[in-house]
Amino acid sequence: MGTGIAEVCARAELDVVVVELDVEALDRSRNSLEGSLERAAGRGKISQKEVGSALARVSFDTNFDALSDRQLIIEAAVESKVIKQEIFERLATVVADPDAVLASNTSSIPIVELAAATNGRGGRVLGLHFFNPVPVMSLVEVIPSLLTDPDATERAHRFATQQLGKESIEAPDRAGFTVNALLIPYLLSAIRMFEQGLASAEDIDHGMVKGCGHPMGPLALCDLIGLDTVLGVAETLYGEQREQLFAPPALLQRLVSAGLLGRKTGRGLYSYT
Ligand code: CAA
Repeated sequence: MGTGIAEVCARAELDVVVVELDVEALDRSRNSLEGSLERAAGRGKISQKEVGSALARVSFDTNFDALSDRQLIIEAAVESKVIKQEIFERLATVVADPDAVLASNTSSIPIVELAAATNGRGGRVLGLHFFNPVPVMSLVEVIPSLLTDPDATERAHRFATQQLGKESIEAPDRAGFTVNALLIPYLLSAIRMFEQGLASAEDIDHGMVKGCGHPMGPLALCDLIGLDTVLGVAETLYGEQREQLFAPPALLQRLVSAGLLGRKTGRGLYSYT
């Protein structure tokens, strides 16, 4: 998702720095960004010149120090509280401007727990939650924590709406925020229905597309989001609420253990060959 966020920022004429921990991940991000911009040009959404200028606005680095002059950072690492807290701890030391906003694209982790890692900069920490695929989905959830300064929250709304041209809602700082707290139980129910052999994957998805007008069925959506992310969000929700509807089904856990994570690995609940 980080690359998708970088793409929408670059297309909005913002100067972007992408930081990944290793060169391979950085190359994947660069290739994915180029591919996505070329596809957008192929569909006539942007010109070839705009592809070039968007790419020119993005630099890639493996060093956190490259973020030192930024005014807004959007962390989009894997859905692990420990990893995200380590990142926020480092950001608090690296980013020079004390007013810079430190945002997380977490799908579910309470923002206040990331703010706590920033050694007194919690007023500038909030959630900026995008949706997959980022260039297509128009919503951004803005999630202030109990510590967030109101002007940082306002800045985040302005960034999402005025600079990126998306729509924003303000969501509560509880696991899953607004959208995932509603979406994840639905997705988990679909996996359980399939796991219990009550209906085929195709019929579950077809049913929700044709019966409820959803753009895609729940099982295909799990594969699009990434099963590791769905599992991570479910675990966070279950950890906080202890409600059975958030408990991850065994099938989801087994698929993730097997490295079958959905579209990004070529197989998840469906095969993509
Ligand atoms: N990047 C950029 N553009 C993309 C894209 C991508 N990865 N995938 C599709 N598109 C664009 C296409 O270019 C096309 O644009 P135009 O109509 O302007 O030409 C448009 O989206 C439709 O694409 P397709 O015709 O190829 O396919 P589709 O009509 O089946 O749409 C879809 C694909 C946009 C993914 C649609 O099925 C959809 O909206 N699905 C639901 C997605 C959703 O619910 N996302 C939220 C997930 S939850 C989440 O992300 C939060 C979290 O924390 C887990």
